[in-house]
Amino acid sequence: MTRNHSRIKKAVIPAAGLGTRFLPATKATPKEMLPVVDKPAIQYVVEEAVAAGLTDVLMITGRNKRPLEDHFDRNFELEDALLRKGDSDRLALVCESTALADIHYVRQGDPRGLGHAVLCAAPHVGDEPFAVLLGDDLIDARDPVLPLMAAARERHGGSVVALMEVPRDKMHLYGCAAVEPAGADGLVRVTDLVEKPEPGTAPSSYAVIGRYVLDPAVFEVLARTRPGRGGETQLTDALRELAAAGAVHGVVFSGRRYDTGDRAEYLRTTVRLACEREDLGEDFRDWLRGFVDTELRQPEPAA
Ligand code: UTP
Repeated sequence: MTRNHSRIKKAVIPAAGLGTRFLPATKATPKEMLPVVDKPAIQYVVEEAVAAGLTDVLMITGRNKRPLEDHFDRNFELEDALLRKGDSDRLALVCESTALADIHYVRQGDPRGLGHAVLCAAPHVGDEPFAVLLGDDLIDARDPVLPLMAAARERHGGSVVALMEVPRDKMHLYGCAAVEPAGADGLVRVTDLVEKPEPGTAPSSYAVIGRYVLDPAVFEVLARTRPGRGGETQLTDALRELAAAGAVHGVVFSGRRYDTGDRAEYLRTTVRLACEREDLGEDFRDWLRGFVDTELRQPEPAA
């Protein structure tokens, strides 16, 4: 097993997918830029990386990279206009994303799969362990998982995936991990991985969610991983090889996670987070109660 114990400093955020489930909104904008309440999904993800101490962020961008780059860059015209208006609160919001982290970009010319996107990070990452955070997968800041994953890597070396129990009938939407217990710290050892298993064939109810701590050994495996499911180079397939060598552990996550790449889950997330907001929540909850009472009331059964 590879044991490079250097501290994790770099985060890789793939955001080059086509986002077809969100068309036409994603025709000219990456789905990672869709707002969750009033902040693009990817900004929550960068904030999570920074909170875990990862201030070197590499984004893998695709055909619509401009909105992403612009969001994390300065906007002098807007800053100047807000300054002249004396709107310091909004000015602070505009500047927030710029100052968050040291952000780099690399282009994935063709969206040939998540595995291929991660491989595009190899020159920037080099020979160190690194984190991967999917740009449309939000982990609630109150339930941090990356620090647990980094600690697992410190203890066991190799790579670490985040796992979440999902109902078996939903497993065909995820990568699925076969696991065995791995000591007293609540970790599991991943013995096998299957990308989006056919219904009824999943080896467990543990789904792989969009957080990874990866050993740089993954690059060499990805470089020779052939396209798999959907004709795409799957990260799951490369991790499967590392798992067979005993080099992949799993942290079981039971906190709040929001998959904003799925339309229904995106809507639920927006409603949930809006309800919790100090500035919007009270009014929004009142409206929501009224909406549920009037518009969504079940009709009285006929006498
Ligand atoms: P998804 O499979 O959820 O993204 O990839 P997608 O293909 O854009 O979505 P749909 O199914 O068409 O709606 C998970 C993450 O990996 C990135 C995506 O941007 C997303 O953050 N990704 C995927 C890449 O960066 N490159 C790829 O080639 C594929």
